[in-house]
Amino acid sequence: MKFIGSFPRADVALDPVLPEVAFMGRSNVGKSSLLNALVGQRIAKTSATPGKTRMLNVFLVSTGSGEWGVVRDGLSREVPLPTPHSLYFLDLPGYGYARAGKAQRAAFRGLLKHALRREALRGVVWLLDIRHHPSVDDRDMQRVLIEGQTRVLAALTKSDKLSATERRARERELREALKLPEDQVIVTSTKTGDGIVDLRDAIAGLVS
Ligand code: GTP
Ligand code: MG
Repeated sequence: MKFIGSFPRADVALDPVLPEVAFMGRSNVGKSSLLNALVGQRIAKTSATPGKTRMLNVFLVSTGSGEWGVVRDGLSREVPLPTPHSLYFLDLPGYGYARAGKAQRAAFRGLLKHALRREALRGVVWLLDIRHHPSVDDRDMQRVLIEGQTRVLAALTKSDKLSATERRARERELREALKLPEDQVIVTSTKTGDGIVDLRDAIAGLVS
């Protein structure tokens, strides 16, 4: 994965034009961490404090290269490489960051809105913390995604924080709450590698 740039506006033109996948979710839900886990590198900046990502950060990813293949899941399965494909990952600020000022919240909202209108956008990885019920901001996001007919993969993050039993129960509850089909909801953890391979395959499916 290669860092392309940090942009204050989401209508920036990228050269070359490639399929794009955007990561969206509440502040601190684990967007930048997940992006790193998917490629097995730590390039996107993460933080325990919400509000770390403040601009549109663009990364170039090559799914056919070794970098995409080094990620192992929790079972350390050998993972076949998908067909070579270059794409951009769009790391974005989180929504619902309570401590951001009014102007900044509006700026973040604008970034997300315009990112969803990008011509080359193939889909969104929408992150939700597996421990929590969707927030009002999550519901707003859901409405926007449905209205825009955006292809969505829901990543339920931080699964390592729950027991296996709790995990299954929460997955079922969230799938019902979000009304998403099973193959669009993926339980993940950047700590254990849970679901990383599955999510990677699903993303490859979005762009191929
Ligand atoms: P903003 O850029 O502020 O919107 O946050 P973000 O959504 O990019 O979250 P980030 O990746 O910076 O992670 C936030 C915090 O959650 C960090 O302390 C991470 O280490 C932690 N975190 C991310 N993924 C996981 C996970 O799978 N398990 C656990 N236990 N912690 C995680
Ligand atoms: Mg971030």
